[in-house]
Amino acid sequence: MHWFEYKEGRLHAEEVPLEKIARKVGTPFYCYSYRTLKRHYQVFEEAFRKVPHVVCFSVKSNSSLAVLKVFLREGAGLDVVSGGELFRALKAGADPKKIVFSGVGKTAREMNEALSAGILLFNVESEQELRALNDIAGKMALKAPVALRVNPDIDANTHPYISTGLKKNKFGIQIDRSVELYRLAASLGHIEPVGVHCHIGSQIVDFRPFVEALARVKDLVVRLRQESIPIRYLDLGGGLGITYNEETPPHPGEYAAALLEEAGDLECTFVLEPGRVLVGNAGILVSRVQVVKSGPSKTFAVMDAGMNDCIRPSLYGAYQAVWPVEPREGEKAPVDIVGPICESGDFLAKDRLLAPCEPGDLLAVMSTGAYGFTMASNYNSRPRAAEVLVRDDRFWVIRKREKYEDLIRGESIPEFLEEGE
Ligand code: LLP
Repeated sequence: MHWFEYKEGRLHAEEVPLEKIARKVGTPFYCYSYRTLKRHYQVFEEAFRKVPHVVCFSVKSNSSLAVLKVFLREGAGLDVVSGGELFRALKAGADPKKIVFSGVGKTAREMNEALSAGILLFNVESEQELRALNDIAGKMALKAPVALRVNPDIDANTHPYISTGLKKNKFGIQIDRSVELYRLAASLGHIEPVGVHCHIGSQIVDFRPFVEALARVKDLVVRLRQESIPIRYLDLGGGLGITYNEETPPHPGEYAAALLEEAGDLECTFVLEPGRVLVGNAGILVSRVQVVKSGPSKTFAVMDAGMNDCIRPSLYGAYQAVWPVEPREGEKAPVDIVGPICESGDFLAKDRLLAPCEPGDLLAVMSTGAYGFTMASNYNSRPRAAEVLVRDDRFWVIRKREKYEDLIRGESIPEFLEEGE
């Protein structure tokens, strides 16, 4: 559920007409609803209340400091995958003891920074990483708390680019090999193996793959405890899907109930890394129609937002609903909603039935709170959009629209090129 609704024929974010924000901030802009973010977090948190747990919001899905702060104020932890995300997490005021660090290719610098911060868990994905982490922790006279990310070989039935739990994927350690690696971890002086981690993919709209993965991971936890490796944390990753179009994902309560039933009396602290389910439907991208082109076979609405602002349709063929901010009367006809970028792959939506729109109209690309702004780029030297947070009848710019100067920040021209030689 979310608080983007029509009131008297105009789309609002909570109590604020989007048209009002567009006038003040310009377009395109991302708009997040505080009420929706908060509710999504509380529902997810509530779903696991019966067991010890930490909800670590997955920063990659939306790393805006203000959005992180909304969750941190509710008591969230954070899941980070880079030194940059760790920097953001700490800037937003996260408790390091609630930060987990995942990622297949952590650098020495990143490990160092996370050890200095004193994070909860390193989710380690290879033997090499384990040894490197041991060396670095040794130099710092510390012990690194570790979960191995195991790959349970489960098909999550999702887009191949966001499926991670299959043998053929680059992620994690094959579950059959993991006991061996846990023994190694336990023998290393600066590693403390305290958890098991698994994440099987994203936008998963059925709870069964999660339960199957847990069944495999549970056996591993039992086995490790028999070997006197005291596993305290079970990190089940993220991946719960949302409704973009007609998907019917399980409610977080259903998802948690299925997982906890499978977990049975396995005593441990559960770590969850939800991203999309908390922010996806809490954000939209508002953009203005620049040109309407009627070709022989199609009508195109050319927007002032493109694939650099929102790449999911181009990259994954993802469906994002498009709602007119002030719907017009008139017969609906199929239209392609495209960006201004010099690529045919630059589209936000295809063949959508919309009443005729005109230059100047505002359209909202729905469900873009997750992997929207965080995947934006400056392609075609386009400044990145502004981000706005709405609460009740007020709104705040939480990230200014980039300026041309921002585009060239850090660039320089070597002197010899200026000298004409
Ligand atoms: N934990 C780990 C280790 C992950 O790799 C991910 C996402 C998550 C948690 C959060 O997953 P979520 O709850 O958001 O599904 N850009 C793609 C999604 C990539 C997901 C990558 N990993 C998209 O736009 O669909």
